[in-house]
Amino acid sequence: MHIRTLGTQGLEVSAIGLGTMGMTMAYGPGSDAATAVATIRRARELGITHFDTAELYGGGTGSSERLLGEAVKPFRDEVVLATKFGFDMTADPVWASANSRPENIRAVTENSLRHLQTDHIDVLYQHRPDPDVPAEEVAGAVKELIDAGKVRYFGLSSAGADDIRRAHAVHPVSVLQSEYSLFERAVEAEILPLLHELSIGFVPFSPLGRGFLTAAEIKPATAYPDDDIRSHDQRRQPGNFEANVAAVERLTDLAAARGTTVSQLALAWLLAQGDDIAPIPGTRNAQRLAENAQAADIALTPEDLTRIAEILPDGAHGSR
Ligand SMILES: NC(=O)c1ccc[n+]([C@@H]2O[C@H](COP(=O)([O-])OP(=O)(O)OC[C@H]3O[C@@H](n4cnc5c(N)ncnc54)[C@H](OP(=O)(O)O)[C@@H]3O)[C@@H](O)[C@H]2O)c1
Repeated sequence: MHIRTLGTQGLEVSAIGLGTMGMTMAYGPGSDAATAVATIRRARELGITHFDTAELYGGGTGSSERLLGEAVKPFRDEVVLATKFGFDMTADPVWASANSRPENIRAVTENSLRHLQTDHIDVLYQHRPDPDVPAEEVAGAVKELIDAGKVRYFGLSSAGADDIRRAHAVHPVSVLQSEYSLFERAVEAEILPLLHELSIGFVPFSPLGRGFLTAAEIKPATAYPDDDIRSHDQRRQPGNFEANVAAVERLTDLAAARGTTVSQLALAWLLAQGDDIAPIPGTRNAQRLAENAQAADIALTPEDLTRIAEILPDGAHGSR
């Protein structure tokens, strides 16, 4: 597993990381605690050093961060722990109610430190922009936490160009985390060029198209219960779904011809988009974890990239 540098402040992560959201929410039943801890420890054995969680993934209980903190205890100093603030966890629905006021940032950070059983958070992200709190104020609050040694690097998630520039002017942003995959290409127009201009690294979330870019999760939205994010996925709605299945089938054929799986092809494609890109595929399954980790060793040829561009020039049908 090779290491990638994100930003210019010293943040280094494994080329493939692990997103832990699905262990507690979003994709049907989460993992039991023992399985989650074992999966995270297996990731470390496979060379993964980058682990992503959030206050949100524990629904305000800290459960996601606690699992991660427990799992990495034997090797805490060898890994990068990334977590996120930015919601009012008492609101219903939580995801629709931002709270990035400085006092909330400070309180969430103290909770995250306790849940993760650590004295510092490596990457602290604002999970979503807050329309009521200027980017400068958010950056100022995170800067204070960095100055106090509680946080190492500042990250933004799903932020627009204006917020990125304004936050970065107050304190350097090391990394942006937004959705990016063969299926979702919105960041290519404005955001990726801006990150290059400002030397900010990039962490693609949902790099497997929320499971669509795999051999396993090719089902329409109606196949999933309401509390599963795939039940609302536009890419799985009638019309879009059939067109996207056809694209994944063509990608699967291409992957098979070069001896990889379609998930590995999708991750290798992301790694080929720049040295400062480090995806965090999410899985609860140790075998899939190994499959995803191996993608770091796959170098796509210019012919592969051309063929992929022919199959999916602009992302999925029904992307953002
Ligand atoms: N910042 C944000 O707003 C934001 C939003 C979404 C996600 N994230 C982060 O990004 C991480 C990854 O995104 P994601 O989990 O939404 O989407 P993803 O990584 O694109 O896909 C995850 C889905 O794919 C399945 N999967 C993974 N590897 C597989 C493989 N090799 N073969 C077959 N199926 C496979 C998983 O199922 P199993 O678990 O059953 O293997 C799960 O259903 C999250 O865990 C989270 O840390 C951040």
